[in-house]
Amino acid sequence: MKITIRLIVSLTLVVALVAVGSSFYQVREERIRLASDLERRVVLLAESLRESVIPLIRSGSNDKLDRLVERFGNRQRLQGIAIYDHQSKVLASTPDLKTKISRSSSRIVNALTGNEAVSAFLKDEGGKTYLFAFPLVHEKEVVGVLALFHDASYIDVRLMEIWKQNLARFLILALLVVAITVLVVRWSITGPIAQIAAWIRDLRMGRAKYVKPSPRQDLLDPLISEVSHMAKSLAMARGEAEEEAKLRAQADSLWTPGRLKEHMRMELGEEKLFLVSNREPYMHTKEGRLVKCIVPAGGLVTALDPVMRVCDGLWIAHGSGDADREMVDADDKIRVPPEEPAYTLKRIWLTKEEEDGYYYGFSNEGLWPLCHITHTRPVFRLDDWSHYRKVNERFAEALLAEIAGEKSPLVLVQDYHFALLPQLVKKERPDAKVALFWHIPWPNPEAYGICPWHQEILLGMLGADIMGFHIQFHCNNFLESVDRFLESKINWEQFSVTRGDHTTSIKPFPISVAMESSRSDTAAAGEAASKEQLLKESGIPAEFLGVGVDRIDYTKGIPERFRAIERFLEKHPEFMERFVFVELGAPSRTHVKRYRDLMTEIEEMVEKINWRFQTGKWKPILFLKAHHSHAAIAPFYKACDVCMVTSLHDGMNMVAKEFVASRDDEEGVLILSQFTGASRELKDAVIVNPYDIEEMADAIHLSLTMDPGERSGRMKRMRSTVKEHNIYRWAGNLIADLARLRLPDTTV
Ligand code: G6P
Repeated sequence: MKITIRLIVSLTLVVALVAVGSSFYQVREERIRLASDLERRVVLLAESLRESVIPLIRSGSNDKLDRLVERFGNRQRLQGIAIYDHQSKVLASTPDLKTKISRSSSRIVNALTGNEAVSAFLKDEGGKTYLFAFPLVHEKEVVGVLALFHDASYIDVRLMEIWKQNLARFLILALLVVAITVLVVRWSITGPIAQIAAWIRDLRMGRAKYVKPSPRQDLLDPLISEVSHMAKSLAMARGEAEEEAKLRAQADSLWTPGRLKEHMRMELGEEKLFLVSNREPYMHTKEGRLVKCIVPAGGLVTALDPVMRVCDGLWIAHGSGDADREMVDADDKIRVPPEEPAYTLKRIWLTKEEEDGYYYGFSNEGLWPLCHITHTRPVFRLDDWSHYRKVNERFAEALLAEIAGEKSPLVLVQDYHFALLPQLVKKERPDAKVALFWHIPWPNPEAYGICPWHQEILLGMLGADIMGFHIQFHCNNFLESVDRFLESKINWEQFSVTRGDHTTSIKPFPISVAMESSRSDTAAAGEAASKEQLLKESGIPAEFLGVGVDRIDYTKGIPERFRAIERFLEKHPEFMERFVFVELGAPSRTHVKRYRDLMTEIEEMVEKINWRFQTGKWKPILFLKAHHSHAAIAPFYKACDVCMVTSLHDGMNMVAKEFVASRDDEEGVLILSQFTGASRELKDAVIVNPYDIEEMADAIHLSLTMDPGERSGRMKRMRSTVKEHNIYRWAGNLIADLARLRLPDTTV
């Protein structure tokens, strides 16, 4: 209210000042104009009379002068005429001019003596009079004076009118100013502020979501966006606090971001966490002139980003986005996530040859098919191996430079791209505590042994103090491979390998998701969309919705899944025109021929199946081939009746866990391949053998016709598993094991 009054008073004052100033000016101009107009008219009359009056004065014809005065003295607004002789004696005058004549005698004398016209405004009870005394000259001699008395009160009346009009204008203007000020303040300031205040109050009371309101004005946008961030943190902190409270009450062991943070503080003190992976968590790409930041598809990034957000460490990764270089500082670093920086990403640049040999070649044409039993032959080229070694050395150098000033730093190396890195780091920094986490399966020794550099790889990996896999089965395979190919002491009870004075413990750490997602983009997805909304663009009608979310990779069993959908429709034609399967497929590693072939195979298959079954607007499969953000995927998870994860072999598979995490409505069925790590934990999924097409077709039917009670019971149990075994527990366990290591050269 105060601000409104202040605004109104100041604006009114300004308007008043302008009005008074301009009125003064207008009145002054009008007065000058009217006076000069009057003078001009009087002078004209005086001059026209002069020629007649002079001879009459000289001849002493007073009668004629009287008649002349009478004739001219009653013109409009002319009050009268007086004629004087050269001694200022009145010779003739209009009646009723007595007082005026007596009050103007001095001016008459002045006109006579000065031989110059004299004009003046005289005031009396009757109003204002304009006197014009005009000397009458004959042959350079003043013979008398002609005095004209003219009414001038109309000038004041006119000027008063101007004042009144301007006052009225000012009053109207002031009223408008008040009204507009009140409206603008209400509309642009107090209204939106009240709206935001109500929203913040609701947030404080826990009655609102942290979806920001959209007030009518963008004036408050920066404030709203800051408050939204604060609100989001508040909502998350509240959620966590509630979780912690529940946890204390139940003496439960639930891991939350807060608990991990506290745990990190206790285990590490001031020490920082260093993480190395090939894939970066945030990639900058060019889109025309714009630079876009995307989160690459893949389980590794999905799992580790929430951990790093809590731990605030350094993540070293390959800068593979075409706009990555533009975004980093001189040290090739950038704080991420962009919307809420929480940790540092250091980008390493690779040449085309390095990327080709190390990433596409040895990692993805060699180790990837070697570790996944999917009947795709690994290809091992000496050149790729050299690049692989070289890039491992380059990352080791970068890491060693970063940890140079740190005492016993904690290093988490990720995945099959860096099998040699642990040994390279430990050689230089034996005090560093190094864990290598292998996100993909480990094959049996027979399968593994075909790799020409199987020994070098094992030696590189055994440089780590902890070697982590998702499941015990992969740990066993790894130990057996070590047993088969290296001289070492294996402790089968402790699951450790000792070579010289260095011991590596081999342990399962089943990776997971954050459950209550800490990703702002997923959170922003907000409420679930309906099936109709999701399929609006394609125009396909659907009563039942199936969803698959994958990188397009031959390990994911995508053709098998489509074959199962085809078989399901053959067996259950009543689901024609009712069931639609949406495949959200992100193209991946497309420089590798096997991946390109797979893409063609999938596209042809979709085309064939759709051609076979489609009627009108309906078709059974919608293949959305693109990089889909977490925010874009979330509504599909939330709206679908069944999510299919049919990997032929998979270390864990995060899609299965993300789907379960997103179903807070405790609805939806998960069909899950028995060859995923996730199937060991998510026993309430409909477990399938993806090679068995009949079984998968029946699984789809079972999922769509499942009793609602059983369906939600299964989902509830899966959710409690994922909730308990979340990514914070994974990180907490791994970091605790690593931090508590007693290394030979650091033991006092
Ligand atoms: C798997 C690997 C990850 C990898 C991800 C995506 O999950 O274990 O290391 O990041 O696939 O693959 P890409 O080759 O695109 O990084």
